[in-house]
Amino acid sequence: MNRVQGLWDTSVGKKAVMAVTGLIMLAYLITHVLANLTVFQGPAKINAYSAFLHGTGGALWVARLVLIAALVLHVVAAAQFTARRRAARPVAYAAGREPQVSTFASRTIRWGGVLILIFIVYHLLHFTLGTVHPSFVEGDPYHNVAAGFGNPLVVVFYELALAALGLHLYHGIWSSGRSLGVSPPSPHPLKRQLAAVLSVLIWAGFAVIPIAVSAGALR
Ligand code: HEM
Repeated sequence: MNRVQGLWDTSVGKKAVMAVTGLIMLAYLITHVLANLTVFQGPAKINAYSAFLHGTGGALWVARLVLIAALVLHVVAAAQFTARRRAARPVAYAAGREPQVSTFASRTIRWGGVLILIFIVYHLLHFTLGTVHPSFVEGDPYHNVAAGFGNPLVVVFYELALAALGLHLYHGIWSSGRSLGVSPPSPHPLKRQLAAVLSVLIWAGFAVIPIAVSAGALR
């Protein structure tokens, strides 16, 4: 136990926790985007998949608990990591600071993360609990998706959050490889093909759905 506590107390330990929990959530996002894309095949497939998931009972709750634990640990480690960084450098660099290998994605990782967190709360109220949905039907995700993007403001909010998610994944996937030591230091730190391909595919797979509904392709 002391060794776990000791690791958690270090900045490297917090980065490792962010990496492992991030990869758990990435696995969920890959299955979620693939399942969501079946919406283009009509109601039968996506509704059957949802019925299967809800029919698993205990297994669904185990998966939910793993995801909740991963999200909480990810956010707590990130917040503590940031607080520690600020405490170590409370005064800004007098001469400004030229980032060495930072990208737009790495510089927006914290505020992007906050937006994604707000999105997750809204999304659960929208498609799981239905409390902010205009005509929620339990067990009919096809209808819920097709009717849930009728309001252009909701579409814009989803698209902004999904753009933040794409950037977060681009930085996070690359950074988790470095934190866990599976990808060695590279002489080309801005070359990140795997992170780029995965984050673009996941972003595009989600982002196309609200746009397709707005364009009348799903009803
Ligand atoms: C346009 C993009 C998205 C669409 C259309 C969508 C659609 C849905 C639908 C229909 C459900 C309810 C499924 C059911 O009850 O069977 C759901 C649940 C969920 N979605 Fe999404 N989703 C999208 C993006 C996301 C993103 C980006 C995340 C995470 C960052 C996410 C996380 C979740 C979670 C955690 C649940 C709850 C699963 C459960 O019931 O345990 N979704 N989504």
